[in-house]
Amino acid sequence: MALNIAAKQAETVLGHDDKDRATHTDIANPDREGGKYADQSGEKMKALAWMGKNDVRVIEASKPRIVEDTDAIVRVTGTTVCGSDVHIMHGVILQVEKGDILGHEFCGVIEAVGPAVTKLKPGERVVNSFVVSCGKCRYCKQKLTTACENTNASALHEKLYGSRMGGIFGYSHFTGGYAGGQAEYVRIPLAENNLLKLPHSIPDEKGLYLSDVLPTSYHSVVYTGVQKDDTVAIWGLGPIGFMACQWAFLKGAKRVIGIDNNWRTEFAKSKIPKLETINYTTLAKKETVPAKIHEMVPGGVDVSIDATGGEYAKSLVHKVELKIGAEQDTSEMINECIMSTRKFGAVGIIGDYVGFTNHFNVGSLMERGIKLIGCGQSPVQKYWEELLEMVENGTVDPTMMLTHRFRIDDIDKAYHLQEKREGGLVKCFVETRFSAQPAPGTPEVTSI
Ligand SMILES: NC(=O)c1ccc[n+]([C@@H]2O[C@H](COP(=O)([O-])OP(=O)(O)OC[C@H]3O[C@@H](n4cnc5c(N)ncnc54)[C@H](O)[C@@H]3O)[C@@H](O)[C@H]2O)c1
Ligand SMILES: [Zn+2]
Ligand SMILES: [Zn+2]
Repeated sequence: MALNIAAKQAETVLGHDDKDRATHTDIANPDREGGKYADQSGEKMKALAWMGKNDVRVIEASKPRIVEDTDAIVRVTGTTVCGSDVHIMHGVILQVEKGDILGHEFCGVIEAVGPAVTKLKPGERVVNSFVVSCGKCRYCKQKLTTACENTNASALHEKLYGSRMGGIFGYSHFTGGYAGGQAEYVRIPLAENNLLKLPHSIPDEKGLYLSDVLPTSYHSVVYTGVQKDDTVAIWGLGPIGFMACQWAFLKGAKRVIGIDNNWRTEFAKSKIPKLETINYTTLAKKETVPAKIHEMVPGGVDVSIDATGGEYAKSLVHKVELKIGAEQDTSEMINECIMSTRKFGAVGIIGDYVGFTNHFNVGSLMERGIKLIGCGQSPVQKYWEELLEMVENGTVDPTMMLTHRFRIDDIDKAYHLQEKREGGLVKCFVETRFSAQPAPGTPEVTSI
């Protein structure tokens, strides 16, 4: 909380720079500013809001309205919880405010469009991209949409990272302050750039994951450069790491090793039988993950991918340093990736890291010629048409990671299951009152 107050003060000092915005940012709840952004009908909706550190709740909010001519309003028929949402709940992401509506992965039906929207019509089924793209800047023109220059007014973001990145739905004012889609309705700014139409053949339980998990996991493998016959190791078998294992095999990797510290190694292996796994809690007392990998692949793997997240310290030293603010992220998993990779191999970081880290093994990186690749927030629009085709023709089935279906009333509890990796939850589908019946072969709804 103190961090967020400091961040707010910093933003005031730096000056919230609204110039050149391609859309109206910082409407993280339609009831803000005296209900200025609420629909005239007065209709209310359920939505998941951040209420304080480790406190997320389902609240009643007003249905949002069209604010700009390029907007659409989507009636949400499916949403979910991401590993990134857990970081925001923990308060490690800056500039989140009490009452901000969260959620950056959702699909639904277009309810209304602004007068400038000609390529989308009410009644069409769509999925969002988690990033908000302007479609016009030099990065959006190259489809590197998360680097958009015009959809995020946070001056603090620019100050801390050296340049401003694009906005993200439901992910704090650090990334634009857009209301998210863990709600029954959501406003989509610049709708033609940020919605993809879903064909009838793709049920919500598959289409939803084009928002984030599929493009993010795919990007981590493509951008880090997995080649045919490579050996690959992937840290973290949450939805992102798990799907990255699948993509690595699809790109021709000859061996893939997945690393985690719980039952998710077994889950991953049950779905991808060729996968080799390491549950590091079962290693002998002094055996390290890199030592185990060198035993399995002498000399180390060609490519390592970190799909964990900088807040997950392993050792007491890093736990303490994180707690007292001496660093913002642990370097342990990245060091393990570096040490496990063969000389002149590559390491990609797709898990979220927010700031500075201590005890980073720069020596091994430099001396052994390792390429360290920040994967960025995934540029969804670069991949989603290709991925939709792969879902349609059955190359990949995103329901392989889908373990649960919950009601939106229970989504706050789903955050805690996701946080603790309990109840066998890998990825959930969250339904609203507008959802269809579960698609054949997908989980029935359960209450938490
Ligand atoms: N770059 C992007 O565009 C992007 C997009 C989505 C998610 N993310 C990030 O990717 C990461 C993974 O997302 P997710 O939804 O799969 O989250 P998740 O929390 O479900 O999965 C993370 C997994 O990492 C494991 N883990 C923790 N510490 C570990 C360690 N030391 N070694 C091995 N495994 C460890 C956990 O047990 C868990 O299974 C998160 O940090 C998330 O914020 C990034
Ligand atoms: Zn996400
Ligand atoms: Zn742009």
